[in-house]
Amino acid sequence: MNRLSEFFLWGGAMAANQCEGAWKEGGKGLTIQDFVRGGSAAEPRMFTPVIDETLYYPSHEAVDFYHRYQEDIALCAEMGFRCLRMSISWARIFPNGDDETPNQEGLDFYGRLFEECLKYKIEPLVTLSHFDLPWGIVTKYNGFLERKTIDLFVRYAETVIRCFRDKVRYWLTFNEINFGVLQMGAYNSLGLIEEKFLKGSSPVPKTKLEVSLAKRIQALHHQFLASALVVQKAHEIDPDLKIGCMISHITQYPLTCDPEDMLETQKKDRILNKFAGDVMVRGVYPTYIRSWFEEENLCLETQPEDADILSQGTVDFYAFSYYMTNCSTVRNDVEQVNGNLMGGAKNPYLQTSEWGWQIDPKGLRYTLNQLWDRYEIPLMVVENGLGAIDEVEDGEIHDSYRIDYFRKHIKEIKRAVLDGVNVMGYTAWSPVDSVSAGTGEMCKRYGFVYVDRNDNGAGSFARIKKDSFAWYKRCIETNGEVL
Ligand code: BG6
Repeated sequence: MNRLSEFFLWGGAMAANQCEGAWKEGGKGLTIQDFVRGGSAAEPRMFTPVIDETLYYPSHEAVDFYHRYQEDIALCAEMGFRCLRMSISWARIFPNGDDETPNQEGLDFYGRLFEECLKYKIEPLVTLSHFDLPWGIVTKYNGFLERKTIDLFVRYAETVIRCFRDKVRYWLTFNEINFGVLQMGAYNSLGLIEEKFLKGSSPVPKTKLEVSLAKRIQALHHQFLASALVVQKAHEIDPDLKIGCMISHITQYPLTCDPEDMLETQKKDRILNKFAGDVMVRGVYPTYIRSWFEEENLCLETQPEDADILSQGTVDFYAFSYYMTNCSTVRNDVEQVNGNLMGGAKNPYLQTSEWGWQIDPKGLRYTLNQLWDRYEIPLMVVENGLGAIDEVEDGEIHDSYRIDYFRKHIKEIKRAVLDGVNVMGYTAWSPVDSVSAGTGEMCKRYGFVYVDRNDNGAGSFARIKKDSFAWYKRCIETNGEVL
């Protein structure tokens, strides 16, 4: 029996700042990612308030997708993709974020890109903001902290949605919007950098760019409003467009059945995973978050219209990234592991990746069931994959570890569908190797296609198919039956 719908959106996911490069071409303005250098799991990425063009910055050339998108999309088509998730870089459309008129060259570039996908019947799924706010928004408006940024974002979103309404039917507003509750999300997600760092002259580790919780929560509130207004706008433009939220779901297990650990797990899960989804799917702040605000002495600045904006701009589907799970506990004498956005207590039943992320395919089935029970709207796994070091042997890459990771996760999606969950699609991160968002490394590779580029910025950008390429092609061809 074929478990997945014949319309299941198989494909891959990429982000402009991690793949495009061409940082100063086509009229693009600078983005917040253009100011961070490469790091590693052990060495944090450095933020440089002034770009030193003699040094290597991963986003500046990334994997040169801007010039090679035809080749890359042809490779995705060869694997049989039905969907490609990409992001538009706001700064290619409004170079400073607040320009009076859009940059035609930027619109033309994305127009060509989407046409190229449609040529192969690949459905574009477009993220409006994936970690690359225009630098002008960061410096003039303090990212999303100023309410004015809501209007600027909505204007940008309306511009591209109107322009591409005939080419793009699926949209996501903010990538991993829940990242804003974490300290590390201040930079990537909310565009918040304290004045002293912005005006400084020496590089600062990204991990040291601290911003208060109060500011992060205020900026996040503005993102929720911006997202809800965009949902409304998109539906006005065309009621058939489908707009989703995008949450990084870092599923939490209690480390023990100690009731204290259970409560700790529930609290973490609510704040980190469920809060943003609840606001965007249900259109209202959940009561547990109001209590947490009181506990933390947080007071949101709101306007009388905010409640209506949120309730009228709920999303059509729930998209999320899933790489791993973590354990929560009140104990502080337990072994810790790394993770996407944040680490947690080590789960003795799971193996970790080379970057210390716990690999948990069954956790994906559990998460899909949990989300379906909670929201009952279509779900989509828009990121999942294994960051690993690949060796090129005689021009070939034998990435059986990656195949194993995908095989096990896709099996669990099928089981979740049999459990009754409505899963619309699956886009693996990232079909072609791209720059790691967390570490800025190239050697942390996710692709079915290898890119000849190293962590110092050397390499020809040549593309090589890995073993996983043929495996994923077969998986899609058989609609997930042959894994
Ligand atoms: C997600 C992001 O958090 O994880 C992607 O949306 C990112 O941008 C992906 O690339 C994998 O994380 P990393 O740090 O290994 O690139």
